[in-house]
Amino acid sequence: MKGIIVHGGSGKWPLEKWEKAKEGVREAAQTGYEYLRKSGDPVEACVRAVMSLEDNPVFNAGTGAVLTLDGRVEMDASIMKGSTLEAGAVAGVENIKNPILLARKVMEETDHVLLAGEGAMKFARAMGFEYYNPITEERRKKWMELKEKFETGEAELPWHKMQELIKKHPELLGGTVGCVAISDGEIVAGTSTGGVFFKLFGRVGDTPLIGAGTYATSFGGASATGIGEGIIRVVLSKSACDFMRIGVSAPKAAEAVIDIVNSSVKTATGIITIDNMGNIGFAHNTPTMPVAYIKEGEEFVYISPDE
Ligand code: GLY
Repeated sequence: MKGIIVHGGSGKWPLEKWEKAKEGVREAAQTGYEYLRKSGDPVEACVRAVMSLEDNPVFNAGTGAVLTLDGRVEMDASIMKGSTLEAGAVAGVENIKNPILLARKVMEETDHVLLAGEGAMKFARAMGFEYYNPITEERRKKWMELKEKFETGEAELPWHKMQELIKKHPELLGGTVGCVAISDGEIVAGTSTGGVFFKLFGRVGDTPLIGAGTYATSFGGASATGIGEGIIRVVLSKSACDFMRIGVSAPKAAEAVIDIVNSSVKTATGIITIDNMGNIGFAHNTPTMPVAYIKEGEEFVYISPDE
């Protein structure tokens, strides 16, 4: 059984970006599935799907990642292989094109799970990752606008109330990307993000934290999106995998963990899941979340319940 699901980030996607987001997730799922079909390698399929999303400026990962308070891009990514629990992650990396590739290098070339900041960058250059500026003109303009509002007192940035900030500026959330793939029982999950817009430099979200943003076992895999500060506190992806371990299907596990979020941290969140029977699930408590999945005989692309 082979299958793949990708997401392009939960949040509130502006109408004018829907088509691009839908096309982006469709293309990523097709890229990953095509590779899965030919090679049967879910690690490479997951990486290729996430790279396709990172290279698409409509999403908040890789090219087009959002800017920090001080106008830089600090990206996070992680990947995990369910059968062996091998995992690799990077946090706060700058000036590389595909953070998911660097996370894979951490998993495959080091004895560590997570490299951060300067050390992660040193590792990237040693691994041959070239300098790349992921900042797009659109993101830079948005950052300038917000910075101006912030400086003139027109916009408040209550760091201690991220949910309030997102309510005022829903366009700031959304765009983290992720993938879960299965091939003949091997499940792999991966996630990549620029974090949240205007985040404090040095802030690390859920994406590079194994168990929070990404998790995979031989029973199931999950990739999360939304406000990292909530996802970390409920260890969202591991919780979904724990449900799948006790026989809950991927769709029900996704719904169950969003219920946990809604009754506890109450932050904007989304998740995609695959269980070892090949069932595919997703759930979110935000207005939209672009999702595409392909499994034998079935192809599905979705962006919003209102569609
Ligand atoms: N979920 C992405 C982040 O909070 O960084």
